[in-house]
Amino acid sequence: MKEKLEAIKASALNEIKNSSTSAELEAVRVKYLGKKGELTLILRGMGALSAEERPVIGKVANEVREAIEAALTESVTAIKNKERDEKLKNDVIDISLPGKKNILGKRHPLDAALESMKEIFISMGFTIEEGPEVESDYYNFEALNIPKNHPARSEQDTFYINDNVVLRTQTSPVQIRVMEKNAPPIKMISPGKVFRSDAVDATHSPIFYQMEGLVIDKGITFADLKGTLEIFAKKMFGDKVKTKFRPHHFPFTEPSAEMDASCFVCGGEGCSVCKGSGWIELLGCGMVHPEVLRKGGIDPEIYSGFAFGFGVDRMVMMKYGLDDIRLLYESDMRFLNQF
Ligand code: DAH
Repeated sequence: MKEKLEAIKASALNEIKNSSTSAELEAVRVKYLGKKGELTLILRGMGALSAEERPVIGKVANEVREAIEAALTESVTAIKNKERDEKLKNDVIDISLPGKKNILGKRHPLDAALESMKEIFISMGFTIEEGPEVESDYYNFEALNIPKNHPARSEQDTFYINDNVVLRTQTSPVQIRVMEKNAPPIKMISPGKVFRSDAVDATHSPIFYQMEGLVIDKGITFADLKGTLEIFAKKMFGDKVKTKFRPHHFPFTEPSAEMDASCFVCGGEGCSVCKGSGWIELLGCGMVHPEVLRKGGIDPEIYSGFAFGFGVDRMVMMKYGLDDIRLLYESDMRFLNQF
């Protein structure tokens, strides 16, 4: 029995030595150590040996198994390394081939402009508020001093969901929602989408962006409004920009104004962008109407405030000299790649 084991060991080690591939080694392993392998069968037959023989033969059998396993492991590693080296040697990389270009995504100009506008107001201590795009007639019109049949309603062609629900035509309703929930001081902006049933052309889109602003505290005056909006214009269009205020009318402010900025293309000389006037209309603003404060639950005898609102798309168009609002919504990569 002992001789038989030694013979198995010798032939196994020999076969291992003569194997040159992983597959050949695996075949050797199966032949000797597999379920029906030569050594396995002997180990299984140990029960038939006498009590004296069993430990002696058992010891030898174990040594043989260990020796075969060790030789196998060593050869497997060596052959794997050799096979890997050969594969690497044949894997030629042509470093002169052109690389693959990764195309990076970019911010949409509208989104980038919104972001920088928000940054400007955040730096002045404004918070950012949001309101629903599907809005009740009450918040969109009524509470802002625009009752049914008010002529201002016809200026904002409205998408009605039903008699009392609309797609908001302006971001101004957020003013009321914020006043209802917060006691002054209030200092917020609210950017977002608004909707008007306008036919699409170079200057009209049924969806566009507005940014609303509202500041309420004790003793807020028109001087605060002017100072804040002048700083905004300078940060947005550069330090050289001049601003002026023209009287205007909005139902939710009294007095109301429109702010113009000196044309940042020609610097005020007059060009095609400012249509020769040297000025560009930037935004609407005014002191919050006492009736609107009351609707928001704020006592106009104690508090005053100012509000403003502007079209974000319009500002982006002016900033980049775009003459067609549709460019901002058509996702034409030839256009967007220029930013
Ligand atoms: N909501 C106005 C519009 O859509 C813009 C506006 C004007 C907002 C004056 C204001 C404001 O808050 O004070 O035309």
